[in-house]
Amino acid sequence: MSGLILFAADVPENLSIFDPVSPPGHSIVQMAIFVLAVTGVIALIVEGALIYSILKFRRTEAARPDASKEPPQVYGSHPIEIAWTAAPTLIVFVLILVIARTEWETRPKIAPFEKGRKDNALYVTVYGRQWWWEYRYEGYNGETLGFVTANELHVPQGSEDTPRPVYLTLKSADVCHSWWVPRLGGKTDVIPGKTNQMWFQTNEKGLYLGQCAEYCGTQHAKMLLRVYVDPPDEFAKWLDDQKQDAITPKDEKVIAGRDVYLKTSCVDCHRVGGTGSKGNYAPDLTHLMSRQTLASGIIPNNKKNLRDWIADPRKIKPGCLMAGFGLMGEADLDAITEYLHTLK
Ligand code: CUA
Repeated sequence: MSGLILFAADVPENLSIFDPVSPPGHSIVQMAIFVLAVTGVIALIVEGALIYSILKFRRTEAARPDASKEPPQVYGSHPIEIAWTAAPTLIVFVLILVIARTEWETRPKIAPFEKGRKDNALYVTVYGRQWWWEYRYEGYNGETLGFVTANELHVPQGSEDTPRPVYLTLKSADVCHSWWVPRLGGKTDVIPGKTNQMWFQTNEKGLYLGQCAEYCGTQHAKMLLRVYVDPPDEFAKWLDDQKQDAITPKDEKVIAGRDVYLKTSCVDCHRVGGTGSKGNYAPDLTHLMSRQTLASGIIPNNKKNLRDWIADPRKIKPGCLMAGFGLMGEADLDAITEYLHTLK
């Protein structure tokens, strides 16, 4: 447990929508402040009038000897009725316009990836799954990519001269989820049978955290999001690494580990590029150790946690779809861990 707490201290805790680093984030916070200001002024006027009336016209015999009588009843005043109909209509109309503009800015129509178009844009298809994120890298700056990774999204850092937008196409493999990294933009629901899109672009490198924002089952709270914004050269290097197949082991212990791995049912769900492990139901393990975390961002990715996870995933994440391998002997467990730990 202390490992978890230490880990939480290592990561940036800023998940505030009021500190955006991307155009959609800025649009949303501007709209939020405007709407808050308008409704705040209305609340002040209404509550002010209410409190003033309560205090000023209280029923006290001393102040108003006629307080037991009803006050004068006024019926039908055209100016007043026109005023209280027109003012709210005007306010609602202004709010609709502002919200429509924000919607337009945060969800423009996104042209699909096109090979050879040098637009500095990254195209990724996101699949929400119980309870992790799959990222299919479609293409970047006109180049087709075609690799798959999980839970940690790497994107390029843009600059004033060269924006590098990220276009996400979001789909669900099972139930409703919602992709939300507050500093990059608004929530986008991930819904079975429907394809949604969103975009962001940032000139600030670093790690941005988020969280699935739609209840999706027992481990909804542990479906964390991590977006790494890398300088363009680091990002290009990361892409090159991810495109490769898994390294072929040379060490005898690791070769033995790979052979054990390939004989277990791991291969039905997981993929390791360049081997017979071709499952596409669970996270792609080709470059497992290039990721900082396991189990959708909840524990650090190191040898001990990896072994604990393989031994009994449901102890770490109760209800998760990966079965525990309780029947697997300690020796096999060590061997598989040894192999997976080399997949950089
Ligand atoms: Cu996925 Cu909540």
